[in-house]
Amino acid sequence: MCSSSWKTMAVALLLIELWFTIESSLAHPDKIVKLPGQPPRLSFQQFSGYVTVDYKKHTALFYYFVEAETDPASKPLVLWLNGGPGCSSLGVGAFSENGPFRPNGEFLVKNDYSWNREANMLYLETPIGVGFSYSTNTSSYEAVDDEITARDNLVFLQNWYNKFPNYRHRDLYITGESYAGHYIPQLAKLMVEFNKKQNLFNLKGIALGNPVLEFATDFNSRAEYFWSHGLISDSTYNMFTSVCNYSRYVSEYYRDSVSPSCSKVMSQVSRETSKFVDKYDVTLDVCISSVLSQSMAINPQQVSERVDVCVEDKIVNYLNRKDVQKALHARLVGVRRWTVCSNILDYQLLNLEMPTISIVGSLIKSGIPVLVYSGDQDSVIPLTGSRSLVSRLAKELELETTVPYRVWFEGKQVGGWTQVYGNILSFATIRGASHEAPFSQPERSLMLFKSFLEGKPLPEVF
Ligand SMILES: *[C@@H]1O[C@H](CO)[C@@H](O)[C@H](O)[C@H]1NC(C)=O
Ligand SMILES: *[C@@H]1O[C@H](CO)[C@@H](O)[C@H](O)[C@H]1NC(C)=O
Repeated sequence: MCSSSWKTMAVALLLIELWFTIESSLAHPDKIVKLPGQPPRLSFQQFSGYVTVDYKKHTALFYYFVEAETDPASKPLVLWLNGGPGCSSLGVGAFSENGPFRPNGEFLVKNDYSWNREANMLYLETPIGVGFSYSTNTSSYEAVDDEITARDNLVFLQNWYNKFPNYRHRDLYITGESYAGHYIPQLAKLMVEFNKKQNLFNLKGIALGNPVLEFATDFNSRAEYFWSHGLISDSTYNMFTSVCNYSRYVSEYYRDSVSPSCSKVMSQVSRETSKFVDKYDVTLDVCISSVLSQSMAINPQQVSERVDVCVEDKIVNYLNRKDVQKALHARLVGVRRWTVCSNILDYQLLNLEMPTISIVGSLIKSGIPVLVYSGDQDSVIPLTGSRSLVSRLAKELELETTVPYRVWFEGKQVGGWTQVYGNILSFATIRGASHEAPFSQPERSLMLFKSFLEGKPLPEVF
């Protein structure tokens, strides 16, 4: 009796052990067991690692994938892309905007408004040379452009589906901000073309936050934004609109030929706006210790992507920890440190001048819903430029207004304003939000994201 119960127990223990062995060997190779400092007992799974994008295996893009908090099988797949060009979707998007955690010292603090409450979130560091993504052939960092980036992003997703076959025909959305106003429409266009040969991408919509869609309109709305928010004087406003506007300055800058008149206007603008104001959110204080790097915001090289520098320091420290890199299955290839924005990538910055608003138009024509949203405190890609581009596009496509310009609510407060055209093209502002809207207004951003996925207009009442 006694010996038989011992035997039963031994067998049971063996079975349990066997079960764990099988389970761990069956576990996905990219599964993250635990990120250092993360809260215990998560309800969702995390994965990260590399997907090679060329057949010679010189280049690999790094991703971080967070399944939905509840019922991932019933929720869509959302690809998130940050801009720059050259900034990291892992460091900016996941760890300071809409991912499940934010680094704080040794720990990862839970973000209650993480977008994985609504979707399975895939963050991609792209193109090569950004974050942990690399090429072992360093000459391929030269002359990376929009076309290469879009092509690599497409191949990435095709190959990523091989790692995660359950997601292959899942509803797919692409979201992101800033220079992703180039990346996203360009990638979506390739998907639509690919689907004509082989139906793979179940693309259901794209959302673009403070996006660069048409260089001159986006950049030149800065003057009025500065002026109407009291950042520049009347006379400087006049010079900034008549003597040298911002698109002309940036064009000259990237061609290494800044004219004396533009140089004069820009130094006046910089003096008045002050380096102690964050251009990505004109109401935010700057992190004083880092004010020097902050001053680079008015430099065109920095036009597109920044977060509050104090947050940024924490992310840089966290992602450079060896134990963190090990947990993420990440490697540093050809660089000594992980950086928020790449300093080895030599991007074709004149691509900035190619409009992508027309691609957005063609996507709408092929039936893909588009949301353009603006954190309304951003002076880098101000809401006024985005709003006029959207309304111009609606007119061109002859889309009638289906939701007239009105407020929307999150809780009992106004979350921003919205307008919808032809039930397919939407514009929305997020009140009090920066260039990185989910960073500064996480609750409102989550509400916007939820409505976007549901294909519903934003809440009209509270
Ligand atoms: C490295 O990249 C450059 C530029 O893309 C290319 O011309 C060259 O053939 C590549 N070298 C190898 C060994 O693949
Ligand atoms: C900006 O400046 C360029 C070059 O001077 C000019 O062609 C363009 O019309 C200006 N745009 C605006 C909005 O003032």
